[in-house]
Amino acid sequence: MSQPNLVLIGFMGTGKSTIGRECAEKLGFAFRDTDACIERRAERSIAEIFEHQGEPVFRGMESATVRHLANQPDQVISTGGGVVLKSANIALLRRSGIVILLWAKAEEIAKRCSTRRTRPLLTNVEDTLAHVTKMLDQREEYYFSAAHAVVDTTGLGRDRSVDIVLSEYRRLAEIWPKIPPLESPAKHA
Ligand code: S3P
Repeated sequence: MSQPNLVLIGFMGTGKSTIGRECAEKLGFAFRDTDACIERRAERSIAEIFEHQGEPVFRGMESATVRHLANQPDQVISTGGGVVLKSANIALLRRSGIVILLWAKAEEIAKRCSTRRTRPLLTNVEDTLAHVTKMLDQREEYYFSAAHAVVDTTGLGRDRSVDIVLSEYRRLAEIWPKIPPLESPAKHA
């Protein structure tokens, strides 16, 4: 029988792709990144899709990608930061595997995201930290209610984050699919 997928959710800049790629290698799973799948299919960058087709079209492509990936086994799926905004995406992802939320403090996210201009929701923003703080606040409930487990990567290097994610995945894979709800998730700033 195949094992549950490992699904990484979380805000932009929390390390989903970097950590996901490493976890996939260690688990012997395929690595899939929803944004990369969308770009390949659309033959455009995410920034271009937002600019020329708009966010609602992007969200439709994102849901179609989730529907496609959620049906395949033995994968680490790294998702775009807004995937949690649609409950249908989350229902499919939770059914396909163990959903781990990568969290980080707003200050760290703002620092990590300030050097790259590939994220349409964070470009042309005057105060990145204020914007990230606001968006995190708006999305926090979505993230925590979608997750089977949470890993706070603030201040952690990649290797340590990978170790913690893998140990959470292995712990929960043992009891899969009977995973208890997250225990009163701590509020993060
Ligand atoms: C988004 C996050 C991005 C990408 C798009 C929208 C979001 O992915 O899907 O720019 O709504 O948070 P990353 O989280 O991989 O940067």
